[in-house]
Amino acid sequence: MSPHVPVLIAEVLAALAVVEGEIHVDGTFGAGGYTKAILSEGARVFAFDRDPDAIAEGEQLESLSGGRLTLVPERFSRMRQALRSHGVEEVDGVTLDIGVSSMQLDRAERGFSFQADGPLDMRMSREGHSAADFLNQADEAEIADVIYTYGEEPKSRRIARAIVAARPIERTGQLAAIVRKAVGYNPGMKKDPATRTFQAIRIHLNEEIQELEGGLAAAEYVLRSGGRLAVVTFHSLEDRVVKRFLRERSGAVPAASRHLPVQANDGPAPSFEAVAKPVRAGEAEIRSNPRARSATLRVARRTSASPWSKAYKGMAS
Ligand SMILES: C[S@@+](CC[C@H](N)C(=O)[O-])C[C@H]1O[C@@H](n2cnc3c(N)ncnc32)[C@H](O)[C@@H]1O
Repeated sequence: MSPHVPVLIAEVLAALAVVEGEIHVDGTFGAGGYTKAILSEGARVFAFDRDPDAIAEGEQLESLSGGRLTLVPERFSRMRQALRSHGVEEVDGVTLDIGVSSMQLDRAERGFSFQADGPLDMRMSREGHSAADFLNQADEAEIADVIYTYGEEPKSRRIARAIVAARPIERTGQLAAIVRKAVGYNPGMKKDPATRTFQAIRIHLNEEIQELEGGLAAAEYVLRSGGRLAVVTFHSLEDRVVKRFLRERSGAVPAASRHLPVQANDGPAPSFEAVAKPVRAGEAEIRSNPRARSATLRVARRTSASPWSKAYKGMAS
């Protein structure tokens, strides 16, 4: 099994500019690649992961950290409440590395992979409805919408029809075969046609877009003035959420919501600044870690303005 190789680690560390004694949040602990790097700069780290396996596998690192690492088995959208329960109101940096880890993908029994047959699970937190529950219970239109929206799959309707006709579906191998047949597959294809459908179902089931929005809003709350935000995403759907959030919060575009408190001038004061151009992996990193090919890093610095999220009802409260 291949270990999880952290992506854009040098660029993330440069953006975070960690100072000894600072407090940082790693919202996506995974195999701890980023956390280890931040710890080695002398910071205290609160590392979140909603996957109980990732937390269990990090316990040794936590016990060796001399009290500098606290693992938090929680969604990162809830970082504000979780930090408060540890007596922390403000942090110096927040890092999010969105998506699945290699451990989740490689373990067939977690049900994320179309390459290895396993139960159709796909739940990061191991709680709630599984992918099999969704595909066996939802109606055809809903399945098609999910595959279209989160997979950007033009043949979503055809795939949804094939899924409903083949129910019940219990295994990843079965789903992959249904999708390949519906879409048309030949072994010479660059990308397996099941990729988009698996991605879509995973994103839907784990509410990944909503989590990302909630995580960004929560980071806006917990970052002190001058605090740094670094977010790595792996496809355009997620990158668009980060890009829009930072453009809006830095005042580059007007606020998307009419419900935001408008100040005497144009709108709320920017809550982020120094929004850097997106960073992509170089050729050398892509050669040694193919996962880096689709990675985009966006970074920004928190200003002293109030969080805009206060105006969004129910968000990050
Ligand atoms: C791409 S991996 C992170 C890898 C990590 N940066 C490293 O270097 O090992 C993403 C991890 O974030 C976790 N995760 C995804 N969404 C989450 C959320 N909303 N809240 C907490 N953890 C989440 C996943 O369970 C997975 O372990």
